[in-house]
Amino acid sequence: MDVARGWVRECGSLCILTGAGVSAESGVPTFRGPEGLWKRRDPISLATPEAFAQDPKEVWEWYQWRRKKIRGCAPNAGHAAIAAVEGEKRDFLLVTQNVDGLHRAAGSRRVEEIHGSIWGIRCVGCGAERVERDDFPELPPRCGSCGGLLRPGVVWFGEMLPREASDAAMEMLSRCEVLIVAGTSAVVAPASGYAAAAKRHGARVIEVNPDETPVSGICDATFRGKSGEVLPALLG
Ligand code: APR
Repeated sequence: MDVARGWVRECGSLCILTGAGVSAESGVPTFRGPEGLWKRRDPISLATPEAFAQDPKEVWEWYQWRRKKIRGCAPNAGHAAIAAVEGEKRDFLLVTQNVDGLHRAAGSRRVEEIHGSIWGIRCVGCGAERVERDDFPELPPRCGSCGGLLRPGVVWFGEMLPREASDAAMEMLSRCEVLIVAGTSAVVAPASGYAAAAKRHGARVIEVNPDETPVSGICDATFRGKSGEVLPALLG
């Protein structure tokens, strides 16, 4: 731990990549863990544009259930440690796959939500976008100006990442001295390739995850523990 803490302390350019595991200790279900969302529901029938076209009400019932669950969750010590180290780094970027908004709630500012936000909504008709944290009385919700269907502001399987967020992430991965990969199973592209991209550019890669992942083998250090416990020790 001391060696890795030294890398983090001494680097001028730090990138952190997070996944659902970082929010697990806040009570947000992961996707592929023992109680994971995809253990109970088929992702293709809920998190694809095709599923939405086929049954927008069912898709929205599931997202409204997730929004309700997440609304009751607060950032944990892992989120707080990431928000704190941001202020100490000249060059810093947090790249998160999480749509729960807990990083921002913890105070993170230099953050790219590459899979969007569950609090964002977009009209499939006129393209109007806004943040909406309240529940919708009627599902599927409709756009107030054109009457079109509103969809959750998240990136579904088969969809492209938001261009700006993706470019910013790749840009940072090409120059960061240290990349921390925390709480992700590293099986969903393109984020699953970010550790290798940073490594190719000479970065030190540190993994924080109770379990082994497909990127563990290329990491310079791995910490098999919960991010709410490891990140404060690593970043504090
Ligand atoms: N601290 C750190 N890591 C944890 C913790 C914890 N407390 N609890 C679980 N983990 C790890 C698990 O071991 C697993 O490797 O977090 C990882 C969670 O993996 P997934 O559930 O697959 O979540 P994620 O990697 O974020 O999924 C990527 O897949 O379903 C899509 O769009 C969705 O953004 C998501 C993407």
